[in-house]
Amino acid sequence: MSIPFVDLKAQYSRLKPDIDAGIERVLNHGKFILGPEVGEFEAALAGHVGVAHVVSCANGTDALTLALMAENIAEGDAVFIPSFTFTATAEAVLVVGAEPVFVEVDSETYLIDGADLERKIEAVKATGRLTPRAVIPVDLFGLPADYENLAKIAGAHDLFMLADAAQSIGAHHRGRAVGSLAAATVSSFFPAKPLGCYGDGGALLTDDAARAEIWRSLRGHGTGGAKYNVVRVGMNSRLDTLQAAVLLAKLPGFAADIEARERVAVYYDQHLPATASRPPRVAGSQSAWAQYTIQVADRDGLAAALHEDGIPTAVHYPLPMHLQPAYRAYGGGQGSLAVSEKLAQHVLSLPMHPDMDQATSGRICAAIAHHLNGLDA
Ligand SMILES: Cc1ncc(COP(=O)(O)O)c(C=O)c1O
Repeated sequence: MSIPFVDLKAQYSRLKPDIDAGIERVLNHGKFILGPEVGEFEAALAGHVGVAHVVSCANGTDALTLALMAENIAEGDAVFIPSFTFTATAEAVLVVGAEPVFVEVDSETYLIDGADLERKIEAVKATGRLTPRAVIPVDLFGLPADYENLAKIAGAHDLFMLADAAQSIGAHHRGRAVGSLAAATVSSFFPAKPLGCYGDGGALLTDDAARAEIWRSLRGHGTGGAKYNVVRVGMNSRLDTLQAAVLLAKLPGFAADIEARERVAVYYDQHLPATASRPPRVAGSQSAWAQYTIQVADRDGLAAALHEDGIPTAVHYPLPMHLQPAYRAYGGGQGSLAVSEKLAQHVLSLPMHPDMDQATSGRICAAIAHHLNGLDA
């Protein structure tokens, strides 16, 4: 029997009465664009995270773009991003006309490496072609970046720090929720994310009322004051009311979902064979476990063998951004970011969702042990 990588059907069965009621309410009132559920969800998420303002939008990629637009980051500006991330982080930088500067990740945590960030900032300053403007730490696989150290570096160089928390809403660091760890944070509600809707969705989070106001204007065609008064060049990027209704129904059980993901992660940690290296854990941090990602020597061999057993896996990500054909011109080429390049060859994400039972995680661990012994032999 085949195992789901993310089991959205099981989650829907659990939450069906609330989700159906929320959707039906929207169908009945008919306010499909910026209906009341959008504001209700923004307020509920702000309360959940402990941040003053949440501005929802159409997806996480737009959230990154809107946040950069709001700071007037554009041509001639350098934005520092980890190379080992999803494409959207680099894409948003280029869409606003700025240039990505690819930074190495830490070999233990897979998160942006502060020492390399400082080296890259100095290098950009020394060359003088671009103005260092922003850094976008990515909470890869759900684990918060080292915001305390990064805030010091960003402060010393007058950089805007934008947390890419597309994978980490629901995570915590020292008791504080992701969304409240940086001056500006963006997230995604892509269906497979820890807090996912039934289509695309995204949000921007901040304590700064003025910044939130600009985001709100930018997501609505740059309007300000009156409906047809355009005060800046914006975008059309709204969270659908139907998606907000789905998210409102999921939010009350979201903390329990993160706990359930943690239980799956602990089971994997304890039962995988020694030859599979465990995902990073950082003292004081609780991951949202968007992915449970191991490293193995023969990644492709293991993935193929598990596929034969009906166990899906995924590679996040097979190529770091500095080697992607579309972004190569902005990077230092093969060999320039050795940790990111090595991770891309060895990482393998296993099924991870809050509805996974122990029999299933047990079957996955046994299959991995069986194949790794065979592959090692
Ligand atoms: C790290 C990261 N940033 C940004 C995004 C973009 O989010 P979306 O798919 O909602 O545009 C994602 C989504 O997969 C992501 O993983």
